Amino acid sequence: MTTTDRNATPEELAGVPSSLELTAIANQLFPDLTEGIDAVASHSGSVPAQPETAAIPGGAEFGAFDWQNPFGLPSVPAANAGTVQAYAPKVVSLEQAKESENAVSAGAANYAGAATGERTSGNDSIRIGSKTLAQIRNDFPILSEKVNGRQLVWLDNGATTQKPQAVIDRLAYFYEHENSNVHRGAHALAAKSTDAYENARNVVKDFIGAGSSEEIVFVRGTTEAINLIANSYVKPLLTPGDEIIVSILEHHANIVPWQLIAEQTGAVLKVIPCDETGQLILSEYEKLFTSRTKFVATTHVSNVLGTVTPIEELVVIAHRYGVRILIDGAQSIAHIPVNVSALDADFFVFSGHKVFAPTGIGAVYGKKELLDAAKPYHGGGNMIADVTFERTIYNALPNKFEAGTGSIADAVGLGAALSYLSEIGMPCVYRWEHELLQYALREMATLRGVTMIGTALDKASAFAFKVDGYSDEEIGKRLDEFGIAVRTGHHCAQPVLRRFGYESAVRPTLALYNSPDDIDALVKALRSFI
Ligand code: ALA
Repeated sequence: MTTTDRNATPEELAGVPSSLELTAIANQLFPDLTEGIDAVASHSGSVPAQPETAAIPGGAEFGAFDWQNPFGLPSVPAANAGTVQAYAPKVVSLEQAKESENAVSAGAANYAGAATGERTSGNDSIRIGSKTLAQIRNDFPILSEKVNGRQLVWLDNGATTQKPQAVIDRLAYFYEHENSNVHRGAHALAAKSTDAYENARNVVKDFIGAGSSEEIVFVRGTTEAINLIANSYVKPLLTPGDEIIVSILEHHANIVPWQLIAEQTGAVLKVIPCDETGQLILSEYEKLFTSRTKFVATTHVSNVLGTVTPIEELVVIAHRYGVRILIDGAQSIAHIPVNVSALDADFFVFSGHKVFAPTGIGAVYGKKELLDAAKPYHGGGNMIADVTFERTIYNALPNKFEAGTGSIADAVGLGAALSYLSEIGMPCVYRWEHELLQYALREMATLRGVTMIGTALDKASAFAFKVDGYSDEEIGKRLDEFGIAVRTGHHCAQPVLRRFGYESAVRPTLALYNSPDDIDALVKALRSFI
């Protein structure tokens, strides 16, 4: 049994290690957190769409990524759950973890000491799945841009990610060779365009492990996705006094739509608090459930703090109370392997532009029976089977939710972006980014006058901070002079910043193409003026 078992009783779950406990076990196996990436990665040559194994230098096999047990650890008790410093790579078994020790220390040599110029090897020797970091960086043309006379350092991935040549080329190909509306018209280009669009839907389905492409609805992005589920599925369930649970970590897109439907129905919002590190408090979450709880909506990764929430437990607990749950994957989709079936998520939503795809496209995953039960959100062409002035018969899934002409080329571009990531291997991307984030946090800790906001063990991509004596805007402007892009401000998530006593913060966010050099540039620039 795992913590994702929907029917587990509280007594059964009590014996199952939580994500953090599993993390602690991993950390016991990897006490030096500079280790890791070479262990996941040394494969070369052709790779399967979602690489499941990675050979370790020296011939050991690192093993398959286990979707049913994403923390991938044996169910033994964690001795040091309270003392671990950070969250460790996903490993498969104790034996395999031990076998990888030699390989992972080789990985650390790639960038340990980078800040002092002691790095022994460059981006071409950091392997991430099927590619080197140097190759990945070459895939993103904008990374070669100069900004204010300096090499661009893009650390604003939480706001939007850059696009690989594969996506840029796919968009151009679509407009050069396939452009037509979809589903309508029986001519050659309509068929090509429809094939490209539906193929992209299948890619999304496979990328997040959905059971069927009917369960994937294209939308403009996370905001539209949450509004759709709020209005189509949740609002009809609500009567005055009913309750919706969200968390303190949410960005405004996962707060305001629920407030809107609460206002319209007399329902109320209840909020899962976080602890001093920025992690959600599961015991407080559980206390929020009552007979009036009708829905839960929580983020997978905080866009401000980078906290990775314990979504496995959040889902299991919601289901134990018979309540459906939406996971907001806006800040996780590019960083953490997701399998909605293994997770048993009811809804999972994300934006394309946060995962190397164009703006204006995103996706809703919803279990088929739930989408079937939901009412259409927008009415219009494409979502109908038959219309008279007396009544309309809606189209089947997923078209029922795709009224009007959508962002067809952008959906095709989303498919190209996810295929690009799958070719590299999401488990490898995840592990690489984990290493890079640990490196960034260690280097940031060498700066005086910097206060980090959010120190959860389990973090991805984002790290927010304040600098004594400087406004956040000033820090952002000074970094821009060095060609370094970070976001400053409230990050569309005012409640979580206020939880920590701030109105705004400086927030760098990492993605797979960021390098130790990017971190060094950030730290060196900050050191030069703070
Ligand atoms: N939600 C986006 C961010 O975090 C816009 O920057």
